Amino acid sequence: MSKFWSNLTKELKPYVPGEQPKDKKYIKLNTNESPYGPSPKINTLLKEYNADDLRLYPEPTSEILRETISQYYGLTKDEVFIGNGSDEVLALCFMAYFDKNDQVVYPDISYSFYNVYAKLFQLQPDIITLDNEFKIPVEQFLNKNAGIIFPNPNAPTGRYLEIEYVEKIIKTNPDTIVIVDEAYIDFGGESAVKFIKDYDNVLVVQTFSKSRSLAGSRLGFALGQKELIEGLTRVKDSFNSYPIDRLAMLCGVEAFKDVEYFELCRKKIIQTREKTVKTMKELGFHVIPSQANFIFAEHKKIRAEDLFISLKQNGILVRYFKANKIDNYLRITIGTDQEMDALVEFLKKLDL
Ligand SMILES: Cc1ncc(COP(=O)(O)O)c(C=O)c1O
Repeated sequence: MSKFWSNLTKELKPYVPGEQPKDKKYIKLNTNESPYGPSPKINTLLKEYNADDLRLYPEPTSEILRETISQYYGLTKDEVFIGNGSDEVLALCFMAYFDKNDQVVYPDISYSFYNVYAKLFQLQPDIITLDNEFKIPVEQFLNKNAGIIFPNPNAPTGRYLEIEYVEKIIKTNPDTIVIVDEAYIDFGGESAVKFIKDYDNVLVVQTFSKSRSLAGSRLGFALGQKELIEGLTRVKDSFNSYPIDRLAMLCGVEAFKDVEYFELCRKKIIQTREKTVKTMKELGFHVIPSQANFIFAEHKKIRAEDLFISLKQNGILVRYFKANKIDNYLRITIGTDQEMDALVEFLKKLDL
């Protein structure tokens, strides 16, 4: 701590991302990255890229990428905002749609960055308790009169909230923003994007980090009616005009254009997830139904923390959260079939 820190800086509890270890090679199932590389077209793009271009600033509004995403979703370019990872998009949302001391509603078990942003932007969290199976009590999100944010599917549970309930939340909160964080939507759920034309209070946030295999490029985006997007752009341009570098933007365009490859990868991940869930249930694990590229599971016969440690010692890295209500669960990213087979073989040997 330094005497130069502001009081707010002193009080912050920054988000702790999953580790990216360097000590040895792990089967890495801890940060929900894709086990597959991005579209092969990106390899070609990078090989052919003329580095001279990097002397110039990138386009501040990432026009081509916004155009590409808008076409994919049947929106206009003005309904798309791009940020440096969806974490940045979410941070800009907290700035654009909330004033200091405003309430912000989100589930108790959800993406832990929401707590961090609420603190950073000095908002008042209104935290809704999920039930023991981590289901969202929808009625508690209706007529809130305060901005709402939730991931769908939820993280770290993987549980999906049916789209009709998402609409109900949007519809019953017409005067406040409803942010649907769809980082994992491509792995099984239905997107709230279809509500954008009818509701001016819905903002959908997505990422390139999971289903599009570009976590290393740091690209995320928000979709919503033009005025909502303008709000985000105002904040962005008051903070950093060029959050998206030239290379990242081109990679993003290729990732969206290569629909065939995208479909192949996400279907494969869904298939591997279903297979893994089935086997883990056979081994006695309680697995929360997942529509994401990870599963959340516990076993009554072994403490999650102990299992986390022994998996790590054996070269398999998963995510353990030492937090209330979830400290007996492990979050396991879906890897390749081979990686998941290695995990399952290890679990079988434990003979639980
Ligand atoms: C629910 C949720 N939202 C947003 C993000 C951020 O993704 P990124 O900043 O890589 O786009 C994550 C990352 O794990 C997440 O789990």
